[in-house]
Amino acid sequence: MRHLLRMNDLPADEIMRILKDAERFKTGKSLLQETPKFVANLFFEPSTRTRFSFEVAEKRLGLNVLNFDASLSSVQKGETLYDTVRTLEAIGADAVVIRHPDDEYFTELQDSISIPILNAGDGCGHHPTQSLLDLLTIQQEFKRFEGLTISIHGDIKHSRVARSNAEVLKRLGANVLLSGPEEWRDPLNKFGQYVTTDEAIKTSDVVMLLRIQHERHQGENEGLTDYHRRFGLTLERENAMKPNAIIMHPAPINRGVEIATELVESRKSRIFKQMENGVFVRMAVLKRALESAKLNEEENTYA
Ligand code: CP
Repeated sequence: MRHLLRMNDLPADEIMRILKDAERFKTGKSLLQETPKFVANLFFEPSTRTRFSFEVAEKRLGLNVLNFDASLSSVQKGETLYDTVRTLEAIGADAVVIRHPDDEYFTELQDSISIPILNAGDGCGHHPTQSLLDLLTIQQEFKRFEGLTISIHGDIKHSRVARSNAEVLKRLGANVLLSGPEEWRDPLNKFGQYVTTDEAIKTSDVVMLLRIQHERHQGENEGLTDYHRRFGLTLERENAMKPNAIIMHPAPINRGVEIATELVESRKSRIFKQMENGVFVRMAVLKRALESAKLNEEENTYA
């Protein structure tokens, strides 16, 4: 059989052979070590770093990558997120990586989908793997979190990175400062104290900058002008940083807006280090998720 194009090309005995082989493969699925594993990457929003570092991580772990393109999928015919993920699970994906514009898109999935779902960013909600790679970068630099002052600057209200980082950094004992335009303060943010941009930059061990999330603003920032001078990391502000302080940014970067172009790859910048760390953190996350799924499967098999 060179191609499978029409059922009437298939003789009955060939059909029976295929069904038998399919049954064999189905039984073999529990032999996890010998079965190739598949991870599906579902990105419903643009991404460069998260998407490709997940893909590199998956390939380095020897996993098979299913890259889902929403524009070529049955989402275009009205299929729901749940049915899409349930389908991928049914056809053999061992884990799914999902980025989606809706806050907490995963609440409708988490109780019914058995394979691991790795959140690659949900709306203004969470970005756990970005947060983990940020933690790794800070740990490599300072060997601790306790007692560090870490300031997060800019569009806090719309930033899933800010929300994930502020919470975990506070939990790990860092002093979190927030700064940026009044309009983009997050009234729900209980993890950090708002101070002026100059005050935050002078006192921080880590200056964490954010992109302005225009795509989530719905016109509300149109009056804001002169952002770089008022709230950005200018060359003058960089001069006021502590000698061993570092600059971080989850990227993509708007050079000349939240950060002066000259500072993106300056001595204090760890921006590309963060991206490098993203691959290792995602490898670690995938490994843990797949190991824990395997343990659950074994428990269910022998229960
Ligand atoms: N930091 C981050 O999530 O970048 P991408 O949107 O390019 O994945």
